[in-house]
Amino acid sequence: MRERDILGCGAEATVYRTKYLGREAVVKTRTPKSYRHSELDMRLRSSRTKNEARIMIEARKLGVRTPVIYDIDVNACNITMEFVTGRKVKDVLDEEPSGAKELCGKIGKIIAELHNGRISHGDLTTSNMILMPDGEICLLDMSLGTTLAEIEDLGVDVHLLQRAFTSAHSGLDDCITDIMSSYAEHMKDAGNVLRRVDDIRNRGRYT
Ligand SMILES: Nc1ncnc2c1ncn2[C@@H]1O[C@H](COP(=O)(O)OP(=O)(O)O)[C@@H](O)[C@H]1O
Ligand SMILES: [Mg+2]
Repeated sequence: MRERDILGCGAEATVYRTKYLGREAVVKTRTPKSYRHSELDMRLRSSRTKNEARIMIEARKLGVRTPVIYDIDVNACNITMEFVTGRKVKDVLDEEPSGAKELCGKIGKIIAELHNGRISHGDLTTSNMILMPDGEICLLDMSLGTTLAEIEDLGVDVHLLQRAFTSAHSGLDDCITDIMSSYAEHMKDAGNVLRRVDDIRNRGRYT
């Protein structure tokens, strides 16, 4: 792996560019953590790898764009997937705030579509979203997601989005309102989810 091919090197995983059968691809690999017991570490890394692939596939069935999976290796704990061209939504919002309103409408809608299918994402930040050249958003990094999500899971998802968004984009105060009104418009059970988000926020205040 060459340095310039590395797209991300987070706490859990390294993401790098490669080719797969001649196509532009990326590999997301979960590297061993020496501070964890080795058996537990292996189990954790392989279950997160499987979960991430499963959620990506389930989201795709709902019509939510996620990278196409080319290969999964549960022993090496890596997923080879389509390289999604476009720009990180975080960078687009930072560099072109004038287009933020339209983009936030799309963010709210894609989360609504995911939640209508009872899938929670687990890490809804603008660094985990790519704006593709066709104007659609592709969601990445779904290893903490769940299927058959309850109102509580969806509420936590929205709560974390709001927190992450306001800290990453402190200058774009109206944007989270635009995201939430688009979400409310498109998500069937939005009333219940948003009431739960209020509960979660209040719980946080008193604990
Ligand atoms: N399929 C992909 N196509 C293009 N870029 C990707 C893809 N997957 C990940 N990336 C890039 O790598 C970064 C890290 O990947 P991510 O899955 O979010 O891992 P992490 O858990 O380290 O945040 C992303 O923010 C994105 O910029
Ligand atoms: Mg990420």
